[in-house]
Amino acid sequence: MPTVVYVQPDGTREEIQVPVGYSVMEGATMNGIAGIEAECGGACSCATCHAYIDPAWADRLPEMEDIEDAMLDSANERRETSRLTCQISVTEELDGLTVTVVPPY
Ligand code: FES
Repeated sequence: MPTVVYVQPDGTREEIQVPVGYSVMEGATMNGIAGIEAECGGACSCATCHAYIDPAWADRLPEMEDIEDAMLDSANERRETSRLTCQISVTEELDGLTVTVVPPY
């Protein structure tokens, strides 16, 4: 089962095994990862699953859809590496994917 590494703003790392087909957001919420609230449940309409993708992984993710891009515009502290974790499905190829939770504001 692939491992996703969730990094908190203070640098704390949690390595979580997430089943293939689940989203990076679901891996976080099922395991109590702080800072990924996912208020809309994965419908791409809240941006509370926002995280920063480790640059080493950015090119290996599926392209962002327009709806995700638009929703990220409403997110706090959007950066070049920002993604909505509900829009990223875990695959075997993403074993080791590292995402950093956005600090609270
Ligand atoms: S969970 Fe709401 S946009 Fe991702």
